[in-house]
Amino acid sequence: MPHSEIYVVTGGLGFIGKHFVRRCLEDGHFVKNIDSISYAADRVVNDEFSSYKNYRFYQSDIVTMEFLPECDVIVNFAAESHVDNAITKARNFCTTNFLGVQTLLELARGKQVSERPLFIQISTDEVYGDITDGAHLESDMLVPSNPYSATKAAADMLVKSWGRTYDLRWNIIRPANNYGLHQYPEKLIPKSIWRMKRGLPATLHGDGSYIRSWLHAEDTVDAILTVIAKGERNMIYNVGSRVERQNIDVVRAIAALVGVPDDDAFVTIADRSGQDVRYSLDDSRIRALGWSQKRDFDEELGRIVRELDVTRFA
Ligand SMILES: NC(=O)c1ccc[n+]([C@@H]2O[C@H](COP(=O)([O-])OP(=O)(O)OC[C@H]3O[C@@H](n4cnc5c(N)ncnc54)[C@H](O)[C@@H]3O)[C@@H](O)[C@H]2O)c1
Repeated sequence: MPHSEIYVVTGGLGFIGKHFVRRCLEDGHFVKNIDSISYAADRVVNDEFSSYKNYRFYQSDIVTMEFLPECDVIVNFAAESHVDNAITKARNFCTTNFLGVQTLLELARGKQVSERPLFIQISTDEVYGDITDGAHLESDMLVPSNPYSATKAAADMLVKSWGRTYDLRWNIIRPANNYGLHQYPEKLIPKSIWRMKRGLPATLHGDGSYIRSWLHAEDTVDAILTVIAKGERNMIYNVGSRVERQNIDVVRAIAALVGVPDDDAFVTIADRSGQDVRYSLDDSRIRALGWSQKRDFDEELGRIVRELDVTRFA
């Protein structure tokens, strides 16, 4: 592919999307960012991006969008992404995560064949459900455990079927749990830091023994760009992590970095209904393209604790 491309990014004010947009702008690509500016959007970062000549912002909802700007690649990050919300407000998840993807697929396939973009759907490791031993392959059955992962799995099915029925080129990317600077403080790491910096204990579901694999958002960006540049089309790529931690250990590490004594670090709260015990991905397929996880979890956690601006989403 040529060096400079036109990307439509949806959900580009969200946590992973903004890391992707920044990298593309720095690399000289033209980025058209479409975001509805939900509660999870980072408005501050839109000001930063607006100083780039190769950036356009469109406030729009992917569910009701009627026009897809010209582009070589569309990368869909837009989603309702927090499992706790999915349990209480599942409808929003069905609307954005499923119908929103259908709208985007229709708009993409509605273009002349020569102008149809490559469709990149950002999925999640959660579509496979949990796994106590071993790791999920891309060919494994999807067994989602909650309304969030169910809508993401359903969206993956839409993408595959639009590819086959309408000849649309696609890739589905399934990353592990992402972390990094300036994530909305509803997810474990930013929420725990946010609470501890305000003198409050972190909250842990159950006994804190659930295991998650942690992948830095910049490693995810590397993976997406690798798939765009070198991936086989109409293929799914897992993006895993070698860093597996129990939630309680993550919270203890944050407490040590913030300077909170272990005894005051957390309180346990009622378990999340449908909670997944552990996720794990076999990512040999994307490693064969040359991608690898580069960021060090403990080093980056320290940086996030130091640099997190707790007023950013206030
Ligand atoms: N964060 C993770 O750990 C993780 C891991 C694996 C996969 N994913 C997937 O990656 C993608 C991005 O996740 P994230 O953590 O950056 O999410 P996020 O919640 O931080 O951001 C989502 C963004 O999408 C926008 N948005 C929401 N609904 C919209 C709509 N209807 N129309 C237009 N924009 C809308 C929001 O305003 C926000 O800017 C999601 O699809 C998610 O399922 C996330």
